[in-house]
Amino acid sequence: MAGSAAHAGRDRGAVAVALLLLLSGCLFRCAACARPSNVVVIVADDQDVQLGGLTPVKKAKELVGDAGVTFSNAFTVSPLCCPSRSSMLTGKYPHNHQVRNNSLSGNCSSPAWQSNMEALAFPVYLSKVRYQTFYGGKYLNQYGRKGAGDVGYVPHGWDQWNALVGNSAYYNYSLSVNGKEETHGDNYNTDYLTDLIFNRSLEFLKNRSPQRPFFIMLSPPAPHSPWTAAPQYQTSFSNVKAPRDGSFNKPGGKDKHWLLRQPVNPMANSSINYLDDAFRRRWQTLLSVDDMVEGLVKKLDEIQELNNTYIFYLSDNGYHTGQFSLPIDKRQLYEFDIRVPLMVRGPGIKPNQTLAPVLNIDLAPTLLDIAGVNLSTVNMDGQSFLPYMAPSLRNGTARSFFLVEYTGEGHPSVDPSCPKLGPGLSECFPDCVCEDAYNNTYACVRTLTGDNLQYCEFADSESFVELYNLTADPHQLENIVKKVDPTLLQTMNQRLIKLQSCRYLYTTFSPRCESRVSV
Ligand SMILES: *[C@@H]1O[C@H](CO)[C@@H](O)[C@H](O)[C@H]1NC(C)=O
Ligand SMILES: *[C@@H]1O[C@H](CO)[C@@H](O)[C@H](O)[C@H]1NC(C)=O
Ligand SMILES: *[C@@H]1O[C@H](CO)[C@@H](O)[C@H](O)[C@H]1NC(C)=O
Ligand SMILES: *[C@@H]1O[C@H](CO)[C@@H](O)[C@H](O)[C@H]1NC(C)=O
Ligand SMILES: *[C@@H]1O[C@H](CO)[C@@H](O)[C@H](O)[C@H]1NC(C)=O
Ligand SMILES: *[C@@H]1O[C@H](CO)[C@@H](O)[C@H](O)[C@H]1NC(C)=O
Ligand SMILES: *[C@@H]1O[C@H](CO)[C@@H](O)[C@H](O)[C@H]1NC(C)=O
Ligand SMILES: *[C@@H]1O[C@H](CO)[C@@H](O)[C@H](O)[C@H]1NC(C)=O
Ligand SMILES: *[C@@H]1O[C@H](CO)[C@@H](O)[C@H](O)[C@H]1NC(C)=O
Ligand SMILES: *[C@@H]1O[C@H](CO)[C@@H](O)[C@H](O)[C@H]1NC(C)=O
Ligand SMILES: *[C@@H]1O[C@H](CO)[C@@H](O)[C@H](O)[C@H]1NC(C)=O
Repeated sequence: MAGSAAHAGRDRGAVAVALLLLLSGCLFRCAACARPSNVVVIVADDQDVQLGGLTPVKKAKELVGDAGVTFSNAFTVSPLCCPSRSSMLTGKYPHNHQVRNNSLSGNCSSPAWQSNMEALAFPVYLSKVRYQTFYGGKYLNQYGRKGAGDVGYVPHGWDQWNALVGNSAYYNYSLSVNGKEETHGDNYNTDYLTDLIFNRSLEFLKNRSPQRPFFIMLSPPAPHSPWTAAPQYQTSFSNVKAPRDGSFNKPGGKDKHWLLRQPVNPMANSSINYLDDAFRRRWQTLLSVDDMVEGLVKKLDEIQELNNTYIFYLSDNGYHTGQFSLPIDKRQLYEFDIRVPLMVRGPGIKPNQTLAPVLNIDLAPTLLDIAGVNLSTVNMDGQSFLPYMAPSLRNGTARSFFLVEYTGEGHPSVDPSCPKLGPGLSECFPDCVCEDAYNNTYACVRTLTGDNLQYCEFADSESFVELYNLTADPHQLENIVKKVDPTLLQTMNQRLIKLQSCRYLYTTFSPRCESRVSV
């Protein structure tokens, strides 16, 4: 099986290199047979799975999901870009990597993050086992800014670095190209970021050494705001509107935490028009991502690497458009914001759907598992999901519950357009509807095996608690905290406390971050 190349690859890779030095005659054949698999990771920005976010990427679904697995239960452990991306890179929960929000002061690409956490991120390990590595696109929201080392700073482990300075943009941006600033305007043929990172990845493939495996990470701005579609896609989906089912335009209700009790309900028509427009334009921007996936698969096939390459397609967090009368954003504890798309194809993967719960903190250990790194030597909270995808390669266990944690963002001053809500809010729309607040700070336990429950505690002045039974109430319309047996709340509270203080999986001094059952 091609997949057997995926593991034990490190040792065999080293042997192959030694052999190459001795026997240059069989150079190509030996290298090809001994190499671990290549990996391509595509991380979309804010692409939901719950509201049909995968619908526009038809080719990606066919070429990645249908050719491999589509996870039905993939989650982020924190529904905001910078904390989530930091979890993907380090395999750690936010309370362990300590990136709290999208600001430098919250450790987003901060000097402390760079010297402590980023130095232990997966690219460092991949580089150690001689992967050729490429990064293209958005990285961490504060990357490249003054105070974050400027464009000259390139994180360890990357051979070819083409990272966006700051937050998602399609045009008029700066890139750090291996530490040198490259500025771009708004000419589609030379500047459109999704296309540009794809083109650069093709150059990387052309110039790679065929003796060593490669790792490519592509992080297009789509479908993040400002939703600038490529010219050829600006009229696509002209009749599409945000889905009206579930919690769309429903009141948050009295039984939800403070922030969710504020939105105007029913929503103003202007808000609905705004979110429908956003929904349509999000889908338009994803068409370029779909072309990128198709182009990559074609190229990998052409250079005869497709059957030895894993391709991951995922997003940093989910998204909402009108759920509980919140216009647009992420940051909430509900399914629409914490569930993410996850599709994977590659050697040994059985084409199948999979229900196994998988988290973004599992990405890094999975990549290292594929690369043949000994996971016992790596401090990560997550665990490889290679066993779920490729049972012929690995045996595994499924987690029984996990943590979602989020620190709300706010502004210390009162928004002049909305004095009645006071200071401490952010991401406010007209009508005083705000998407975030300092006290939108919560930690949740989510169970999936057996009971399908979500239990959340807020760090606000009410110590608010929400509990949902996702089996009976998939759209989380009813908080059942006052209806259940108090011993259930106690159990959930104890699990939460344990998870919030959990440390790396392989240390013995603190509770482990996992509680697993065999599958
Ligand atoms: C992978 O594809 C190449 C080129 O098509 C082929 O030579 C090789 O045998 C394939 N390997 C496996 C394990 O299928
Ligand atoms: C930022 O991370 C460092 C460790 O890398 C930690 O000491 C510090 O407390 C963190 N800051 C915040 C605001 O969490
Ligand atoms: C890019 O910047 C130029 C100069 O400021 C501006 O005229 C143009 O509208 C911008 N383009 C986009 C797509 O934002
Ligand atoms: C990407 O490459 C294609 C094919 O060479 C070219 O047509 C396109 O203009 C390039 N786009 C960017 C943004 O570099
Ligand atoms: C809002 O839209 C609905 C449905 O399109 C329409 O019936 C209603 O009159 C509109 N309200 C206002 C205030 O424009
Ligand atoms: C998919 O995987 C599950 C669990 O491993 C298995 O029970 C099922 O038969 C598989 N279905 C297909 C079509 O392979
Ligand atoms: C992995 O590392 C652990 C801890 O250093 C060691 O005990 C174990 O033997 C290693 N496993 C392999 C397969 O090398
Ligand atoms: C999985 O476990 C079974 C039973 O212990 C064993 O026979 C099989 O070889 C294992 N498979 C892998 C890929 O390790
Ligand atoms: C981000 O986190 C830091 C540290 O907790 C805090 O000082 C800052 O106000 C937060 N930023 C926002 C926008 O909430
Ligand atoms: C949450 O923060 C807002 C804004 O600072 C404040 O008005 C509100 O009373 C707070 N609510 C709770 C329950 O802490
Ligand atoms: C959740 O809902 C399901 C289906 O209605 C029910 O069987 C189960 O007992 C409920 N669990 C709790 C804890 O309420």
